[in-house]
Amino acid sequence: MTRILVLGGTAEASRLARALADAGADAVFSYAGRTQAPVAQPLPTRVGGFGGVEGLIAYLRAERITHVVDATHPFAAQMSANAVAACGRAGVALAAFERAPWQPGPGDRWTRVADLGAAVAALPDAPARVFLAIGRQNLDVFAARPGHFYLLRLVDEPQAPLPLPDCAAVIARGPFSVEQDTDLLRQHRIDLIVAKNSGGRGAEAKLAAARALGLPVVMIDRPAVPDRLVLGHVDEVMRWLGH
Ligand SMILES: NC(=O)c1ccc[n+]([C@@H]2O[C@H](COP(=O)([O-])OP(=O)(O)OC[C@H]3O[C@@H](n4cnc5c(N)ncnc54)[C@H](OP(=O)(O)O)[C@@H]3O)[C@@H](O)[C@H]2O)c1
Repeated sequence: MTRILVLGGTAEASRLARALADAGADAVFSYAGRTQAPVAQPLPTRVGGFGGVEGLIAYLRAERITHVVDATHPFAAQMSANAVAACGRAGVALAAFERAPWQPGPGDRWTRVADLGAAVAALPDAPARVFLAIGRQNLDVFAARPGHFYLLRLVDEPQAPLPLPDCAAVIARGPFSVEQDTDLLRQHRIDLIVAKNSGGRGAEAKLAAARALGLPVVMIDRPAVPDRLVLGHVDEVMRWLGH
């Protein structure tokens, strides 16, 4: 009997959950628990870390999981590496459901960097107004460059003081439109955007807005993840699961 664990936290994971529920599949959806009110799913849902690779192996065995679909964000590299290790050791089939990275097009002014540290190093010396579109985690590395103003966009109100001396936080949950993002960039007189190369539609609008306004983008490449089967569409995942 097929029993599926979906590792979620993305719009893609939510789309897959809908398809699995519609197909009547036996599946559990998992959230890390990073946001206060995660999107409700049409599948039984658990929340919180598993406790590393060992914890995940124990969970897979206890729940008799036969297939794991890793539909986490491309920057959730720890969870993805844990899934590869745990599924390998537990003999559970694993596929990643991953969106393609964004590619620069005509009119884009991207500087591609390997990681967050390189993004910090790529900031200009003169004080600038930066849209730091990287979510809530990892803001502290930008504290090394306190001379800039940082605009943040967060899902939840911050519960603790932010580590950046000159910043403003907009509380909003995607997807965002090009119009909204163009307004946001104009309103805050943004000079430069720092983004993770997440791919997908929900966070893409800021790139079109940057293009329209002629703004440069520091684009952080995805972290490396161990080799695994990667599928790009819900239909492919459903076929792989035998539906
Ligand atoms: N990183 C981003 O930019 C980003 C953006 C949008 C959404 N997200 C979503 O936010 C979540 C956390 O991302 P992250 O970058 O903090 O992950 P991460 O660094 O790869 O994972 C850290 C730990 O969080 C737990 N975890 C992560 N995803 C989980 C899931 N779906 N279910 C249960 N536990 C999970 C695991 O804890 P244990 O080791 O205890 O199992 C994992 O070792 C992910 O679900 C991801 O899809 C991340």
